[in-house]
Amino acid sequence: MNPHIAVTRHGAVQVLRINRPEKKNALSGDMYLALVDAIKAGDAAADVAAHVILGASGAFTAGNDIVDFLAHSTGGGGVGPVLDFIRLLPKVRKPLIAGVDGFAVGIGTTMLFHCDLVYASPNATFSTPFLDLGLVPEAGSSLLFPRMMGYARAFELLALGGVFTAERAREAGFVNEVVPSAELEAKVLKAAHRLAAKPPEALRLARQMMRGDADAVAKRVDEEAEEFARRLKSPEAREALSAFLEKRPPDFSKVLSKA
Ligand code: COA
Repeated sequence: MNPHIAVTRHGAVQVLRINRPEKKNALSGDMYLALVDAIKAGDAAADVAAHVILGASGAFTAGNDIVDFLAHSTGGGGVGPVLDFIRLLPKVRKPLIAGVDGFAVGIGTTMLFHCDLVYASPNATFSTPFLDLGLVPEAGSSLLFPRMMGYARAFELLALGGVFTAERAREAGFVNEVVPSAELEAKVLKAAHRLAAKPPEALRLARQMMRGDADAVAKRVDEEAEEFARRLKSPEAREALSAFLEKRPPDFSKVLSKA
C-alpha cells in the first residue's frame, strides 16, 4: 500500500489514482513500484478486465520526482522503479484508459501513448520537457510520438518543449475526447466498463493486432533508458534539476565553462 497511489475496484475495472497533491502528483520510486504491482496484479486477475489511471486535485502528474532524479544525477538513488514502470507499459495485457485533468508532464504525457483511450478535461496540459532538463525522451516516446502524431508535432513536444492544450492533444490524435472536468471520471469509467463487457479473448487479440510489435517498443524503451541514465549524470542535467528545486532559471553557461 502506497499512500500516494490509491488502487480501487469498480466492478471489473481497476482504478489507479495518483494522489500526491502537495508535489503536484510527482512520481517517486515507491509510487512507480505501487503502480507496477497494481497493473501486474490486475493483468493477472481473472476478475479485472481493464485499468484506469487518474490524477487528483487538478493534476494528473508533474512527472518524475525531480528530487529522485537529482539523487541519481549526483550518484545516489536509482532509476530502477521508473524503468520497471516504463518497461511494463508496452506489455500491459489489458486495456489502459487515462483521464487527464491538469498538468501531465514528462512521463505523465509519455505514458498516455501506451494507453488505449485517453480523455482529458479542458484544463489538461501536456508537456515533455526532457531536453530542457538536459535529458532525452523516454518511455518509447522517440518512437511512438512521431508514429502517432507525425514528426513535426512530436518534435514540437519533445524537442522544442511545447505545451499542448487538451484541444491540441485531441487534434494531434493522442486524446480521444475533451470533456468537462466534472464529467471526466464518469466518462473514463463508462468507457472502461464498455470495454470490460466485451468478449475478452476477441478484445485481447484486437488490441494486440492494433498495438503492433511490443518488442520493438520495448527495445526503444531500453535504448532511450541507457542514454537517459547517462544524461542524468551530465552537468547539464544536474544544473537544470538543481535550478528547478532552487526555484531559479538554469544557467548552462556555468556548465560550459566547467567542461
Ligand atoms: N518533482 C518534485 N517536486 C515537484 C515536481 C517534480 N516533478 N513538480 C512539482 N514539484 C513540487 C515543487 O517543488 C513544489 O514543492 P514545494 O511546495 O515544496 O516548493 C510543489 O510541488 C508545487 O509545485 P509548483 O512548481 O509550486 O507548482 P506550480 O503549479 O507553480 O507548477 C508545474 C506546476 C507542474 C508546472 C511545475 O511544478 C513543474 O514544472 N514541475 C516540474 C515538472 C518536470 O519538469 N517534471 C519532470 C519531467 S521529466
